[in-house]
This record gives sequence, C-alpha cells and structure tokens, in this order.
Amino acid sequence: MWHGFRVVRERGSLHLGWVIELPPRPTRLAQQIVGGSLREGDVVVDATAGNGHDTQFLAGCVGETGRVLVFDVQEAAMRSTRERLREAGLDERVEFHLTSHARMAEFAEAGSVGAVMFNLGYLPGEDHALATEADETLRALDAASVLLKSGAVLSVVCYPGHPQGGDEAASVERWMNGRAESAWRVARYGMIGTKLPAPFLMVARKP
Ligand SMILES: C[S@@+](CC[C@H](N)C(=O)[O-])C[C@H]1O[C@@H](n2cnc3c(N)ncnc32)[C@H](O)[C@@H]1O
Repeated sequence: MWHGFRVVRERGSLHLGWVIELPPRPTRLAQQIVGGSLREGDVVVDATAGNGHDTQFLAGCVGETGRVLVFDVQEAAMRSTRERLREAGLDERVEFHLTSHARMAEFAEAGSVGAVMFNLGYLPGEDHALATEADETLRALDAASVLLKSGAVLSVVCYPGHPQGGDEAASVERWMNGRAESAWRVARYGMIGTKLPAPFLMVARKP
C-alpha cells in the first residue's frame, strides 16, 4: 500500500490529496513515536544508518542546536547517509561513526541521550550478509539503555521474515521483556495474518 500525494476522488471531483498508509509501516510509526518525544537541542542516536532516512528525520527533529550520532559498519551506508544529509543541509548536526553500534557508549555521556533508533536487517541493494546480528544487537541495546536519559525512548524495527532475522527478533523481544520487568514501558506493534512473519516495531521508554 502507498502513502504520499495521490490523485483522489472526493465528492465526485478529482484532486491531489495526501494518502496515509494504514496501518503505518513500523519504520514510519517509529518516527512518529520518537519524533513526538524529542525537543530542539536533544542529542540522539541512529544506531543503523542504512540510507540515512532516520538520520535525516532525527536531524530535523533536534534542530540547529541538537546533535545526531549515527552508526553503521558499511562504508556504502555511511556514504549514502552523508550524501543525503549534505543535500538536505543538515550534515553539520550529525556525527558519522563508521563502526558498530555496540560502541555507541564511547561517544556520549551516560544518561544524556534523548532517543535511540534501530532499524535492523540489511541495507537494501547491498550485500544481505551484512545484516545486523543478534549478539551485537544485544550489546548495542545494553549500551543504548545506559545512554538514554530518564523518560527517553528507544525504538527497534525487527525483521523476523528474513534469514537470521527470526532469531534476532526473538532476542530483541526477550531483551525488551527484561526491560518491562525493570519498570520500562514497552510496546510491540506489527501486522498479523501475513504470509511471512511481518516486520514489527518495539518501543521502550526508560523509567
Ligand atoms: C535496514 S538498514 C537501516 C536503514 C536506515 N535506518 C534507513 O533509514 O535508511 C540496517 C543497517 O544496519 C547496518 N548494520 C549492520 N550491523 C551493524 C552494526 N553492528 N552496527 C551498526 N550498523 C550495522 C547495516 O550495514 C545496514 O546499513
């Protein structure tokens, strides 16, 4: 299903209208939820740069005085993200880290970060073998939980439908259950009734 500007028919006439995808994709929903929790000047983390969509979104949310730390292990992803941010005129708010997200705690103070976004899996159009991996993802989630300030939001989009994605998604759910037992508020959003296990979003708010 598509979203964006489309020709729509309303009261018998055709015109351009904004069509919202329902239910929203997990990646879109993650942006809506995280965006609603951010303020100008926040320091935030995009744990998986990919093509930089979330980085650009976060850079817009935190404004001129904010900062986005972005991580990816693939040069192609970092190049694409850097290019996207430069074209948008937002690259000066971004610190680009060509390294694993498991190292994020080396680059920010504990308890100083306003949000961390993960979009797991592989970079579309690149080597699918370079996908995120459960053990490394869990290390990165531990680091993220230390960096987040009280009341800040962590979002993780999981892809159980691709090879290895099922194990990783299950690991993330177990990790999130552990947080829920430690007074974090945790939610899971995803479609049901799909042929393959559908991507889902997990959101957790630090107490
Ligand atoms: C689905 S893509 C992210 C899409 C991105 N959020 C966007 O908006 O375009 C997943 C990315 O995770 C990256 N990745 C894999 N292992 C990683 C790791 N250990 N640390 C950081 N990024 C990693 C991959 O290289 C890939 O670019």
